[in-house]
Amino acid sequence: MSNFIQNILSNEASLEAYADTEKELLVFKLISLLPVSSLLKVRQQLREKVVNESYTATGKIVHTESAIPIPNLEIELWDRDIFGMKDFLGHGITGQDGSFAIFFDPKASGFGDDADLELRVFDPPQICTIDGKIVKRKNLVEIIKGPDNVQGSYDFGQLSIDYYEYDQEYAKFFPYCVPKSIKHDFVPDALGMTLKSVAQYGQIMDEIVQKNRRNPDEPSYAEIQKSFPETSTIILEKERPGYTRSDEFFGDRMLNGFNPVIFKKDKDNPNLYTTSFNGEKFKLTGKIDLPNYKVKFELRNEQLFPIEITLQFRDNNSIESNPPLKNSQTYTPLDGNKWLQAKRVVRATHIGVLGEVKAHLSQCHFNMEQYSISLLRHVRKSPIRGLLYPHLKEVVHINNFGRRILMDPKGGFFAKLEPMPIIPDMLQWVRSNLGSYDWTDWQPRKPLCDSHRYAKIGNLYWGILTTHVDSFFAENHDEIVKNWDEIFRFSEELIQHSVAYVPFTMEQTDDGDEWYDLNEIDNSSNPRREVNGEVKAIRPITSSSTANEQDIANLKQVCRYLIYQCTYWHSCIHNEHNPEFGELKYGALLSNGSMGDEDDESVMPGQEAASIILGASHMLTNFKYGYILKNEDGDVPAKLIELVASKRAEFEELGFDLNSLRSRLNS
Ligand SMILES: [Fe+2]
Repeated sequence: MSNFIQNILSNEASLEAYADTEKELLVFKLISLLPVSSLLKVRQQLREKVVNESYTATGKIVHTESAIPIPNLEIELWDRDIFGMKDFLGHGITGQDGSFAIFFDPKASGFGDDADLELRVFDPPQICTIDGKIVKRKNLVEIIKGPDNVQGSYDFGQLSIDYYEYDQEYAKFFPYCVPKSIKHDFVPDALGMTLKSVAQYGQIMDEIVQKNRRNPDEPSYAEIQKSFPETSTIILEKERPGYTRSDEFFGDRMLNGFNPVIFKKDKDNPNLYTTSFNGEKFKLTGKIDLPNYKVKFELRNEQLFPIEITLQFRDNNSIESNPPLKNSQTYTPLDGNKWLQAKRVVRATHIGVLGEVKAHLSQCHFNMEQYSISLLRHVRKSPIRGLLYPHLKEVVHINNFGRRILMDPKGGFFAKLEPMPIIPDMLQWVRSNLGSYDWTDWQPRKPLCDSHRYAKIGNLYWGILTTHVDSFFAENHDEIVKNWDEIFRFSEELIQHSVAYVPFTMEQTDDGDEWYDLNEIDNSSNPRREVNGEVKAIRPITSSSTANEQDIANLKQVCRYLIYQCTYWHSCIHNEHNPEFGELKYGALLSNGSMGDEDDESVMPGQEAASIILGASHMLTNFKYGYILKNEDGDVPAKLIELVASKRAEFEELGFDLNSLRSRLNS
């Protein structure tokens, strides 16, 4: 233990960082019981101790998959003793080529005891503020056992570790982490909440599915609905019958609801706004409909109202891509029930398909994962790690978790939910969506009208992030520049693994209408990089391991973009998910021609699918952990909390509950 205590006493190591086992807590206690005079005496003796025989432990840490070196990892060398006890021998940091050299005193392993070597590999520590006290938590990522009874220097050679490795299975779609290479888990409280939510609603869902398998006529859709908590459209309908099915509500949800639309301007009448979906490129399962739609909206008194819906269904129930199509049908508010049905058909795709797969999974989860993997693999010394880590730290975890419970081909909900229309082409669609996203010149959409609360709040928050990021860069400029090589590798890897740029995603067609605003639409003239004949969607942040002014500006923009997507955009998706997806008659996926009144069960997706839709919606949106103001983990920068809190009145005036602003993408 002497070397371990020596490090504590000489301030080379902090007890708090080690106080994670009973053994170390015991050491902590023993030291705390010693009188100060004894401690000072021991410290003096240890300082005067002459190390006259030094050995060296050397090695090189590389990625398993690629053998690429991993620099800037902290390595500790320990001697394993009996009963799990260990003696600290020394520490080092991996260099640019992943190599390390740790000098150690053989006597540190104890009298008459040759060292039984063990390496501990650490990610950068997490710095948190808890009850006003700064706490540094070590992040152990790997333990590597070396040989016993080493009587001299020892070379570990090349050591491969599974460290945020890319999953080759998904490489043709998008960058994804191999589960076993993800080095940290959710924080325990977040994991507990996640599992509780999944268990609670999963049980309800399973009971419905079992009942339905025993008797295909049971339970009724009404019973299924009643098995879950009431959500906002149900509550609103009780207060204001007909309101949630009104044109006013439809327009407001398209502007401010789950999956808020970026509208286009009608090419024939620039006073009208449009949104459309084209499902012809998708191969379907045949269980639900995926008609093409186009909705035209009129602006009246600063509100958007739908005035025309055109639907076009597949002919002969074709499930192939590029199917034969029926003639299109156009509906207007004068069409009574048909108008209500047409709005519901649009909602089904807008919420359940576009909202889930594009706005949520693609723009939030998979878009952010590529940045998260690259950050975790490359940025350790740069202060940018501390700026982004609180927001990106659990993206790979939730995606891994989501892949298991949603996307697993055998047991995932999407597999159980046969009607989920995108099973065959879902990954391809996600890839195409990712091909349209990039950080360059991105900023929140301009408000289209006075009731465009989503855009107003987004711009207010973007202003806060600009101040936050600018001030962080001003405070940390020198360190950011000094460690620019990490940013260069971060950027290079993003590009290498980026999907191909696509001008139109799978559901988009060029109908001649123009976007009303290009802020969130990729339109930068900055060049893209071509890799192996593929023009990559993500543009470089920097092209050098030395930063210039433009590089710094680019990195600031990347930081704002990532924090915005992980916090505000993802908060909106979650806050508005259940309010719209939680009522079957309002927003469920539809089948058998889709055009039916709400009581016409022939167009409903089936009881099993209905229960899975509601079960998944509730369980996925009830992960209530990780908010900026609550700052549960103590790692959200104080400056960001201050800035957000200082605008509380403005957020509230726009109807946004600041307590619902998430700090990270973990759900
Ligand atoms: Fe999410």
